[in-house]
Amino acid sequence: MDSLTDRVGLGWRPDLAAGILEHLDDIDLLEVIADDFFAAPHSQVRALKTLAAQVPVVLHGISLGLASSAPAETRRLDQMARLVDQVRPEFWSEHLAFVRAGGIEIGHLAAPPRNRSTVDATAANLDRAEAAVGAKPLVENIATLIDPPASPLSESEWLNGILAASPCALLLDLHNVLANGFNHGYDPFEFIRQIPPERIAGIHIAGGKFVSAPDGSQRLLDDHLHDVPDPVFDLLEETAARAPAPLTVILERDGDYPSMDSLLAQIGEARRALAKGRARRYHPVEAVR
Ligand SMILES: [Fe+2]
Repeated sequence: MDSLTDRVGLGWRPDLAAGILEHLDDIDLLEVIADDFFAAPHSQVRALKTLAAQVPVVLHGISLGLASSAPAETRRLDQMARLVDQVRPEFWSEHLAFVRAGGIEIGHLAAPPRNRSTVDATAANLDRAEAAVGAKPLVENIATLIDPPASPLSESEWLNGILAASPCALLLDLHNVLANGFNHGYDPFEFIRQIPPERIAGIHIAGGKFVSAPDGSQRLLDDHLHDVPDPVFDLLEETAARAPAPLTVILERDGDYPSMDSLLAQIGEARRALAKGRARRYHPVEAVR
């Protein structure tokens, strides 16, 4: 399909494979977790290449830890480079997180202190990634239950610092914005207005749940186990009203899978939100499907 239009796709998960393959007409592209294939047998990589020949595929990394004071590991960058070379995705992406420190694997995406030093270190890692892979990744904002200590910069200031230091595009995760806004007391719409709209190329949408913190207060947990809530579609409309470039939207679902009809309905809802946002843009853009 025309690459200049907004697109809405789905995260590829083995549990969803049959349903996805049955409904490729309703899914514009697939986002594949790259790390799942770093040590996969050749037959699985070949199957992924076959999939990529049928439908546009993008690769999503989870373990490079680019937002770290430590240099990203050459071995992992080389694994990503090899997979990108084999699959030829439209683009690849990775989180603005650190996942290991001092030889310890944290086991999840952790938010680094938001300061000048981590901005510079992240930019250096993005250069390393580009040198290894051949292209910079789209960088994704993460959800965090804890506002990282030693952070003189706000989340948007830190993110904008990285975008200013490195010419990469943004994969804006709207449920992460919603969750961080709720958990740390900022307006998610205001957050989106603070980001340079021309840098937004990708969007993640997902759902989570409210959990109780030890002090009894509520937190919004980004678990990808629930349907996309209405505020995320409202944020998508707002983003589409602001961003000048075509947007690639991916619905992320990591478990507690609903029916394929439900996932397709959420994809349809995302298309409607994009169309509403584009309709109130000042500058004309390509129509959504
Ligand atoms: Fe995400």
